[in-house]
Amino acid sequence: MKTITLRTTVNGTPVGPHEIPDGLSMNDYLREYLGLTGTKFGCGVGECQACVVILDSPDGTSELVRTCITEASFFEGGRVRTVEGHAKDGIPSKVQAAYLDHFAFQCGYCTSGFVNAGHVLLEDIARNPVAKEQVEERILQGMDGQICRCTGYVRYYAALRDIILGDPALTR
Ligand code: FES
Ligand code: FES
Repeated sequence: MKTITLRTTVNGTPVGPHEIPDGLSMNDYLREYLGLTGTKFGCGVGECQACVVILDSPDGTSELVRTCITEASFFEGGRVRTVEGHAKDGIPSKVQAAYLDHFAFQCGYCTSGFVNAGHVLLEDIARNPVAKEQVEERILQGMDGQICRCTGYVRYYAALRDIILGDPALTR
Protein backbone atom coordinates (compact mmCIF):
# COMPACT_ATOMS: atom_id res chain seq x y z
CA MET A 1 0.00 0.00 0.00
CA LYS A 2 1.33 3.40 -0.92
CA THR A 3 1.54 5.79 2.01
CA ILE A 4 2.12 9.48 2.42
CA THR A 5 3.35 11.59 5.31
CA LEU A 6 0.97 14.23 6.60
CA ARG A 7 1.62 17.22 8.82
CA THR A 8 -1.09 19.72 9.65
CA THR A 9 -2.14 22.10 12.38
CA VAL A 10 -5.51 21.21 13.85
CA ASN A 11 -7.24 23.62 16.21
CA GLY A 12 -3.93 25.38 16.77
CA THR A 13 -1.93 22.27 17.61
CA PRO A 14 0.70 20.82 15.28
CA VAL A 15 -0.31 17.28 14.28
CA GLY A 16 1.88 14.63 12.72
CA PRO A 17 3.92 13.56 10.94
CA HIS A 18 1.60 10.63 10.34
CA GLU A 19 2.10 7.89 7.78
CA ILE A 20 -1.31 7.41 6.19
CA PRO A 21 -2.62 5.52 3.19
CA ASP A 22 -2.48 7.52 0.00
CA GLY A 23 -6.04 8.51 -0.85
CA LEU A 24 -7.32 8.49 2.74
CA SER A 25 -10.14 10.99 3.10
CA MET A 26 -9.79 13.86 5.55
CA ASN A 27 -12.96 12.61 7.20
CA ASP A 28 -11.35 9.25 7.98
CA TYR A 29 -8.11 10.91 9.04
CA LEU A 30 -9.84 13.19 11.55
CA ARG A 31 -12.14 10.52 12.91
CA GLU A 32 -9.93 7.42 12.85
CA TYR A 33 -6.43 8.79 13.34
CA LEU A 34 -7.08 11.86 15.50
CA GLY A 35 -10.27 10.74 17.28
CA LEU A 36 -12.00 13.97 16.26
CA THR A 37 -15.43 12.49 15.72
CA GLY A 38 -17.24 15.82 15.86
CA THR A 39 -16.73 15.99 12.11
CA LYS A 40 -19.57 13.93 10.71
CA PHE A 41 -19.98 11.76 7.65
CA GLY A 42 -23.35 12.39 6.07
CA CYS A 43 -24.01 11.95 2.38
CA GLY A 44 -20.41 11.09 1.55
CA VAL A 45 -20.70 12.65 -1.89
CA GLY A 46 -20.20 16.34 -1.25
CA GLU A 47 -23.84 17.40 -1.04
CA CYS A 48 -24.77 18.01 2.60
CA GLN A 49 -21.74 19.68 4.21
CA ALA A 50 -22.21 17.84 7.49
CA CYS A 51 -18.51 17.04 7.16
CA VAL A 52 -16.99 20.46 6.58
CA VAL A 53 -13.96 21.77 8.41
CA ILE A 54 -12.43 25.24 8.24
CA LEU A 55 -9.21 25.75 6.36
CA ASP A 56 -7.43 28.98 7.30
CA SER A 57 -5.36 30.87 4.76
CA PRO A 58 -2.29 32.97 5.59
CA ASP A 59 -4.14 36.11 4.44
CA GLY A 60 -6.60 35.74 7.32
CA THR A 61 -9.47 34.42 5.24
CA SER A 62 -10.89 30.95 5.67
CA GLU A 63 -13.01 28.50 3.74
CA LEU A 64 -15.11 25.42 4.33
CA VAL A 65 -13.77 22.17 2.92
CA ARG A 66 -15.84 18.97 2.59
CA THR A 67 -13.84 16.23 4.27
CA CYS A 68 -15.83 13.35 2.78
CA ILE A 69 -14.62 14.02 -0.74
CA THR A 70 -11.27 15.65 0.02
CA GLU A 71 -8.16 13.61 0.60
CA ALA A 72 -6.20 14.27 3.77
CA SER A 73 -3.15 15.01 1.63
CA PHE A 74 -4.88 18.19 0.42
CA PHE A 75 -4.39 19.60 3.93
CA GLU A 76 -0.62 19.02 4.08
CA GLY A 77 0.90 21.99 5.92
CA GLY A 78 -2.54 23.53 6.37
CA ARG A 79 -4.22 25.10 9.35
CA VAL A 80 -7.48 23.35 10.03
CA ARG A 81 -10.26 24.06 12.49
CA THR A 82 -12.81 21.45 13.49
CA VAL A 83 -15.87 21.75 15.68
CA GLU A 84 -13.82 20.58 18.66
CA GLY A 85 -11.76 23.77 18.53
CA HIS A 86 -14.44 26.41 19.01
CA ALA A 87 -15.26 26.16 22.72
CA LYS A 88 -12.64 27.64 25.03
CA ASP A 89 -12.21 26.25 28.54
CA GLY A 90 -15.59 24.56 28.21
CA ILE A 91 -17.34 27.77 27.21
CA PRO A 92 -19.14 27.49 23.86
CA SER A 93 -18.34 29.95 21.11
CA LYS A 94 -20.88 32.64 20.30
CA VAL A 95 -22.19 30.54 17.44
CA GLN A 96 -22.52 27.41 19.56
CA ALA A 97 -24.22 29.34 22.37
CA ALA A 98 -26.67 30.98 19.98
CA TYR A 99 -27.59 27.62 18.41
CA LEU A 100 -28.19 26.22 21.88
CA ASP A 101 -30.25 29.23 22.94
CA HIS A 102 -32.42 28.87 19.85
CA PHE A 103 -32.78 25.07 20.12
CA ALA A 104 -31.53 25.14 16.54
CA PHE A 105 -30.92 21.43 16.09
CA GLN A 106 -32.82 18.22 16.63
CA CYS A 107 -30.73 15.09 15.94
CA GLY A 108 -27.61 17.27 15.73
CA TYR A 109 -25.99 15.39 12.89
CA CYS A 110 -25.65 18.52 10.78
CA THR A 111 -24.64 20.73 13.68
CA SER A 112 -20.85 20.63 13.49
CA GLY A 113 -21.09 21.69 9.87
CA PHE A 114 -23.49 24.48 10.75
CA VAL A 115 -21.16 25.60 13.54
CA ASN A 116 -18.17 25.75 11.23
CA ALA A 117 -20.16 27.49 8.50
CA GLY A 118 -21.48 29.99 11.05
CA HIS A 119 -17.94 30.81 12.16
CA VAL A 120 -16.73 31.33 8.61
CA LEU A 121 -19.74 33.52 7.87
CA LEU A 122 -19.29 35.71 10.96
CA GLU A 123 -15.56 36.05 10.37
CA ASP A 124 -16.25 37.13 6.82
CA ILE A 125 -18.85 39.65 7.99
CA ALA A 126 -16.38 40.97 10.58
CA ARG A 127 -14.06 41.79 7.68
CA ASN A 128 -16.89 43.14 5.51
CA PRO A 129 -19.76 44.40 7.67
CA VAL A 130 -23.18 43.87 6.18
CA ALA A 131 -25.96 46.42 5.70
CA LYS A 132 -28.75 45.76 8.20
CA GLU A 133 -31.31 45.27 5.44
CA GLN A 134 -29.10 42.63 3.81
CA VAL A 135 -28.48 40.47 6.88
CA GLU A 136 -31.04 37.83 5.92
CA GLU A 137 -29.67 37.53 2.40
CA ARG A 138 -26.08 37.33 3.67
CA ILE A 139 -27.00 34.51 6.05
CA LEU A 140 -28.76 32.61 3.29
CA GLN A 141 -25.75 33.00 1.03
CA GLY A 142 -23.24 32.01 3.69
CA MET A 143 -25.20 29.00 4.91
CA ASP A 144 -26.48 27.95 1.51
CA GLY A 145 -24.53 24.69 1.36
CA GLN A 146 -25.53 23.36 4.78
CA ILE A 147 -28.27 20.76 4.67
CA CYS A 148 -30.28 19.84 7.77
CA ARG A 149 -32.31 16.70 7.28
CA CYS A 150 -34.41 17.61 10.31
CA THR A 151 -35.17 20.87 8.45
CA GLY A 152 -34.16 23.12 11.32
CA TYR A 153 -32.94 25.91 9.13
CA VAL A 154 -35.08 28.70 10.53
CA ARG A 155 -33.65 28.46 14.03
CA TYR A 156 -30.06 28.25 12.86
CA TYR A 157 -30.61 31.36 10.75
CA ALA A 158 -32.37 33.17 13.59
CA ALA A 159 -29.43 32.44 15.88
CA LEU A 160 -26.98 33.91 13.40
CA ARG A 161 -29.23 36.90 12.81
CA ASP A 162 -29.28 37.62 16.56
CA ILE A 163 -25.48 37.53 16.72
CA ILE A 164 -25.09 39.81 13.72
CA LEU A 165 -27.70 42.35 14.73
CA GLY A 166 -26.48 42.29 18.31
CA ASP A 167 -22.94 43.29 17.42
CA PRO A 168 -22.57 46.83 16.03
CA ALA A 169 -19.21 45.89 14.50
CA LEU A 170 -20.90 43.46 12.13
CA THR A 171 -23.40 45.81 10.49
CA ARG A 172 -23.19 49.12 8.71
FE1 FES B 1 -19.52 15.47 3.11
FE2 FES B 1 -22.17 15.26 2.90
S1 FES B 1 -20.80 14.12 4.17
S2 FES B 1 -20.84 16.71 1.95
FE1 FES C 1 -30.88 16.65 12.34
FE2 FES C 1 -29.95 18.90 11.24
S1 FES C 1 -30.66 18.60 13.29
S2 FES C 1 -29.90 16.92 10.43
